[in-house]
Amino acid sequence: MKGIILAGGRATRLYPMTLSISKQILPIYDKPMIYYPISILMLANIRDILIVSTPLHINIFKNLLGNGEAFGLNFTYKVQNEPKGLADAFLIGEDFIGKENVALILGDNIIYGSNLRNILNNAVNKIEKEKGAIIFSYHVKNPKDYGIVELEDNENIISLQEKPINPKSSLAVIGLYLYDNDVIKIAKTVKPSKRGELEITSVNQKYLDLKKLSVIGLNDDFAWFDAGSCNNICEASSFVKSIITRSNFQIACLEEIAFLNGWIDKNILKSSIKKLESAEYGNYLKRYL
Ligand code: G1P
Repeated sequence: MKGIILAGGRATRLYPMTLSISKQILPIYDKPMIYYPISILMLANIRDILIVSTPLHINIFKNLLGNGEAFGLNFTYKVQNEPKGLADAFLIGEDFIGKENVALILGDNIIYGSNLRNILNNAVNKIEKEKGAIIFSYHVKNPKDYGIVELEDNENIISLQEKPINPKSSLAVIGLYLYDNDVIKIAKTVKPSKRGELEITSVNQKYLDLKKLSVIGLNDDFAWFDAGSCNNICEASSFVKSIITRSNFQIACLEEIAFLNGWIDKNILKSSIKKLESAEYGNYLKRYL
């Protein structure tokens, strides 16, 4: 399975912070926001990753992440000229995806939970074997701000809504989606919504109509943040800070995941440590030498 990270958009809700830099480069406590969605794809065993950003910001990501060698990954970069919506990722990424299945994650989504690796691996295996699409839900207080999924018997999807005025449930669809290769074909049929965007909810609706959509509920053993507002960035940063300082374990430490997965050797790890050791992040990695 391949992975796409959408790191575009104008992030006007974060002005003036994002007048000249990308939202997905802003810090969540001790590392750039985009590290968190990259780590999720890594936990799902996905190593070929397309990063999509704006013409103004794409070079920031190239400079930060390079070709991915330091993380045992293979990064490809593409520009999204206008913020046309999440489903546009599959049109921009058509050649990159090729004949494979694909995971899409939003560059501002932070997901944390101890059993995440297993859940993600099982979900990826399900798509590889049975095809179809998988979304993930999380209970929220402000369902009007998100894509929403309505369930029957806690399992079967009855309906999907995008930022509804009258939400049918409080289960938000988080910004992580797994699809079979048909998603390219399906994305091409999606028409822009009232706000002029190719909505991911329209893609999911097509899978639902075909009875090929399933949902995995993330309960309160997990934390999910959509870091699109100052408040959410602040909350996510505090959360990461308290986990890191209390447990002495990192979250979204890409070199650590790569090393433990056997994707990078000690020499590559050593050169990252040399570059980063003045920061606590780099110092932390020394435990693996
Ligand atoms: C997007 C999706 C929405 C989803 C959310 C998760 O909204 O359209 O369905 O619930 O991401 O972060 P946006 O953040 O682009 O407003």
